[in-house]
Amino acid sequence: MAEIRIRNTNERIAGDDNVLEFLNKHEVVYEKWDVSKLAPELSENFTLTDEQKQAVLDTFDAEIKDLSARRGYRTWDVITLSEATPDLEAKLAKFEEIHTHTEDEIRAIVSGNGIFIIKSPEHGYFDVELEPGDVISVPENTPHFFTLVDNRKIVAVRLFVETDGWVAHPFADSSFQKA
Ligand SMILES: [Fe+2]
Repeated sequence: MAEIRIRNTNERIAGDDNVLEFLNKHEVVYEKWDVSKLAPELSENFTLTDEQKQAVLDTFDAEIKDLSARRGYRTWDVITLSEATPDLEAKLAKFEEIHTHTEDEIRAIVSGNGIFIIKSPEHGYFDVELEPGDVISVPENTPHFFTLVDNRKIVAVRLFVETDGWVAHPFADSSFQKA
């Protein structure tokens, strides 16, 4: 289960009901996939081949179709990030810029960890600390960014309505302080 940290106060929110209530209040979709369904060679593997990425998508075919039927996604893929990723530092630097999109940004964490940092009108920025099985969707036009944690590795399924709906629009925010 994801955990939340409110950056301005360092308050932590944990426990299924509390996390869900907080995220739902911010219109952030949060669901779970059963990652125990993954074949052993697909779990905690951060250097997936193209065939293995397809096998990940096949494993979660029902979940992807269900989400897409409810939320209109039309394409999906698998992204991997780890020390084996060429230009990891440059990619992370790009991900860590605050931005918005014209469609929601949905990710299902397959392996590893990551943090979505999302702006709340009420609380300022909050971290959503993600683990395998977490499915999260940042609402459209909501300032956010993404980063890794100390283990610096993640595999996630991304779903899109329109590929160009995911273009990042920079969001300059003088109120944001990196923590
Ligand atoms: Fe984004």
